[in-house]
Amino acid sequence: MPFQNTKNKQILHDITGIFKSGMNAILGPSGCGKSSLLDVLAARKDPDGLSGTVLIDGQTRPNDYKYRVGYVVQDDILSGTLTVKENLAFSANIRLSKTVSKQQKADVVKRVIHQLALEKCADTRVGLDSSTAIKVMKLLHEISLNGCTIIFSIHQPRYMIYKLFDQILLLSLGLCIYHGPAPDILSYFSESLGFICEQYDNPCDFLLDIVQGDRHSSVILKNSVKEDDKEEDKKLTQNKLAETLNNRYLKSYLWASVQQETDNYFNHPSSDQILYEKLPKKCRFNELYYVSQRVLRNLGRSPTVIIIQIGVSIVFAILCGLVFLRIDHTLDQGVRQRAGALFLITTFQVFVNLISLELFLKEPTVDVFAVANVILGMIYLIMMIFSGFIVDLTSIVAALNWLQWFSIFRYALYGLNINEFTNLNLCATVANNTTSICSYRGEDTLIERHIDFESDWDLWKNFLALGIMTIIYLILTYIQLLRIKKYK
Ligand SMILES: Nc1ncnc2c1ncn2[C@@H]1O[C@H](COP(=O)(O)OP(=O)(O)OP(=O)(O)O)[C@@H](O)[C@H]1O
Ligand SMILES: [Mg+2]
Repeated sequence: MPFQNTKNKQILHDITGIFKSGMNAILGPSGCGKSSLLDVLAARKDPDGLSGTVLIDGQTRPNDYKYRVGYVVQDDILSGTLTVKENLAFSANIRLSKTVSKQQKADVVKRVIHQLALEKCADTRVGLDSSTAIKVMKLLHEISLNGCTIIFSIHQPRYMIYKLFDQILLLSLGLCIYHGPAPDILSYFSESLGFICEQYDNPCDFLLDIVQGDRHSSVILKNSVKEDDKEEDKKLTQNKLAETLNNRYLKSYLWASVQQETDNYFNHPSSDQILYEKLPKKCRFNELYYVSQRVLRNLGRSPTVIIIQIGVSIVFAILCGLVFLRIDHTLDQGVRQRAGALFLITTFQVFVNLISLELFLKEPTVDVFAVANVILGMIYLIMMIFSGFIVDLTSIVAALNWLQWFSIFRYALYGLNINEFTNLNLCATVANNTTSICSYRGEDTLIERHIDFESDWDLWKNFLALGIMTIIYLILTYIQLLRIKKYK
């Protein structure tokens, strides 16, 4: 929201480390910055406010990095109406260049399905549950054995999963508490810090307990955390605890070796670097095609919204047809009914489009939505007043007259009225309701309402105005789409 105060908050503090080939787990309590660190590594965080360098195989990330890196985010962003295979095919179509043939793309999808042993669920739309989590971790472990670097964040994993870790990065309040080999972590905490993990303790619970201040150490924290600390001091205590543990890490042999290795990378860049092969330029229309295809497929598979929209339109059309079934050619009633029908149809068409409002709202909460609805309702009301139907436009004060040029209703109604009333004969009953004279022209009613109709241009200028307004709205929509935050 434009008037919201923004506060700066530092989420990660000077994280330096090396993720080696194998299984690299980022551990830590909820909110410690695990996902944020992964987002930084995957170039999904807004670079504004970030400093530092991310190297991959000793090289800086190429510009087309997002097409090369695979990242499964915490919130499910895959399309639930598409099958596993279709989701992978979509990704292949978007990421791979147009020059890659359809068959080659299909082969890539097949290979990934085989690599991840997804054959059985390739044509289903199932999600990941906790029982399959262990299978996924085992598969990732197998892939890591081929020399791949797998980095993931995990919250309180089972021992079965913990056993698969090669390296651990432990975070607390955005500070690094441990970064090194998984088998050494328990001895690190017991030998130099005095935290003992008992025989049947789950190591992950043990590590989380330490950083959350739930375990007591005889060596280090006597002065930092007191058992009788008041509840309101707990946050401060945790800060102090995280800082103390971080200081200890910075004095450890682990940090010394990380520093030595990173210094090596920066001071002596290796000469046998393989520069990234440049990917062919992406074609926007290609992306548009596949995204549209996915949208249509989604609509086809969960058609509720579209069925409701079509249903409402059909019901409205039937209702309109029935209401105006007996429309006659009389000068008073016939003209009123015709004008009424046209007004109703126009209003319905305009208001049905309110549904697209959501796109223009940054945070579509109930409150924001309600306020936006009221504002839009006001705009529509003003457009309706200046439609020339409710009030005669010539009687409106000159200062406000310009508003009619922005009324969608006016253009639509003028066009429909010209179409309806030209070449229309109207009748009037005279002489004690017995004789009808049908020599009245529909055009005269247009003249009465100050609607120009003589030339073709008088009709088509309304279409042109509506076309220009459509283009303006599409441009505004495009600008809004560009403004949507690409980063988390
Ligand atoms: N875009 C953002 N704007 C403001 N605060 C953010 C943003 N992203 C993350 N945060 C805050 O940064 C902190 C770390 O968030 P992050 O999602 O990285 O934690 P996490 O360790 O992944 O937690 P969890 O285990 O719950 O997934 C949290 O306090 C969160 O509220
Ligand atoms: Mg997270």
